[in-house]
Amino acid sequence: MSTSPKPVKKVPIHLQSAANRVYIKNGEIVNHDKSFKADVYIEDGIIKFVGPPSEITIPGGVRTIDASGLLIIPGGIDPHTHMQLPFGGAVAVDDFYSGTKAAVAGGTTMIIDFVLPNKHESMIEAYDKWRSWADPKVCCDYGLHVGITWWSKSVSEELGILCKELGVNSFKTFMAYKGLYQLNDSDLLDVFERIRQLNGVAMVHAENGDIIAKNTQRLLAEGINGPEGHELSRPEEVEAEAVHRACVLAHQSDCPLYVVHVMSKSAGIELARARQRYRGRYIMGETLAAALGTDATCCFHMGFEHEAAHVLSPPLRPDPTTREFLMKLLANKSSAELVGRARRSGYCVFGETLASSIGRSMSGVSKAERIYYITSPPIRESAETPRQLMKSLAYDDLQLTGSDNCTFNKEHKAKGKGDFTKIPNGVNGVEDRMSLVWEKGVQAGLLDPCRFVAVTSTNAAKIFNIYPQKGRIAVGSDADIVIWNPNATRTISKDTHHQACDFNIFEGMTVHGVCEFVLVRGRICAERGQVRVAEGFGRFIPTPVRPPFVYDIIEGKVQSAVQEDHPEERQNGGGNSVAKKF
Ligand code: URP
Ligand code: ZN
Ligand code: ZN
Ligand code: ZN
Repeated sequence: MSTSPKPVKKVPIHLQSAANRVYIKNGEIVNHDKSFKADVYIEDGIIKFVGPPSEITIPGGVRTIDASGLLIIPGGIDPHTHMQLPFGGAVAVDDFYSGTKAAVAGGTTMIIDFVLPNKHESMIEAYDKWRSWADPKVCCDYGLHVGITWWSKSVSEELGILCKELGVNSFKTFMAYKGLYQLNDSDLLDVFERIRQLNGVAMVHAENGDIIAKNTQRLLAEGINGPEGHELSRPEEVEAEAVHRACVLAHQSDCPLYVVHVMSKSAGIELARARQRYRGRYIMGETLAAALGTDATCCFHMGFEHEAAHVLSPPLRPDPTTREFLMKLLANKSSAELVGRARRSGYCVFGETLASSIGRSMSGVSKAERIYYITSPPIRESAETPRQLMKSLAYDDLQLTGSDNCTFNKEHKAKGKGDFTKIPNGVNGVEDRMSLVWEKGVQAGLLDPCRFVAVTSTNAAKIFNIYPQKGRIAVGSDADIVIWNPNATRTISKDTHHQACDFNIFEGMTVHGVCEFVLVRGRICAERGQVRVAEGFGRFIPTPVRPPFVYDIIEGKVQSAVQEDHPEERQNGGGNSVAKKF
């Protein structure tokens, strides 16, 4: 049988200014679900073509980049930044210009910052303030989450306006910062119910603020007032307890919950357990570049300046195995291990399930044989149970990495000399997040490049409902593209970083994964170490409510995360129109 060659579909090229058009050839595209060799053509900030060179004719005058040996990845999305945040008696030194310039230098092409209203301040007024700070300065696109720092009827009404008119779908609540932002359980329940009603996404800073306040009083009374008191006042279980409680409160309110800055093994385990309990994306979790890249051991006996520079909440942990543990949760390794262990031993894993439950149901077991199957809790009757349990084990445990970039200089951190509670909380990370996740994840053999893309970009786009405009290299998507050299290295330093702060918590680390080019909506903003951003070039990207990635599962439109990631499996019943476009 002879096969006739497939007709070549030529993409029509319109005459445009050459600056608007870029052709990237010979690279390897890495999306969250697959990688493949293809060329990319960009016009007016949008990806117009992805495919083999035989299928496109490129006119002269187009900027051509040879990406041989390099990876073409979706620009990073940092879901957690605090540019120019007034906090702890100081203002974060990275503003929306230096912060987004640094982001771009490191391969991040969109940030999502937090509007944090003061108590009794209108959320809309605070939102307008953030927009007026960001719009003239941002060098890359940005979105906004809004903090719910107090609760009232007017706040509830404003939530509706933010969702319906102002392009915000995600709201951060606080279980810590007693007297400042902390909400009690009753208010949290009301907030979660309201967010669910609006089809939004609740976020939580999970630490038990009451315990922290008590511990702090005791530590100061005992004369422990240096930066080491910060972690001592909020050990792992204080974080883990709040994660557990937040997940229960959200589940009781039927509201999807995104746990920000998971910083400890105990908190990570609580999150993984909740995800398994509630099957899938009811609960989502983010860890930070800081938690993956360093830990509190680097501060031991280093003196006030060094230790204070590492203070953030929840804190870096003294357990040096935390970094790899969190990376494995991101890599989905713990779930895989879980299944393996369950199969091998038949014992309870994470207290969640047994090999017997995964292996079978009671369906079809005769009355006489049932005696052999008695166990507690019992093996369930439904034939669906094993499949569902196996799927729940297959879910990823952590989905995203943020930076929580909130930078203060030595002079600001010095406010806390003699009283650790006065050290402004926050560290850098927006510039180095991508390289750190590559180094500690891919280079260390824990993540594959597709998963790297998922946890640095695509999952953020999906959870906050801007996928596939962002987070994917595909026709029709914004041309937010990083041309990534996985073999090149760089050494991180405050002396060479683009951030405005005078300290870098990753100082001296050599990391693989360097941006050769960074394109923000088609504009080449970084090229082989030269950063040429344009102040104000970034746009505000509205994040619409009801992200299908989250809500299709809650509403039972799809059964599992597994289907969501493989649209072809969803053809008979999936309801995600966004996913279907691809
Ligand atoms: O220490 C931190 N994380 N500072 C920023 C505010 C917050 O809680 O995210
Ligand atoms: Zn927080
Ligand atoms: Zn150190
Ligand atoms: Zn934060």
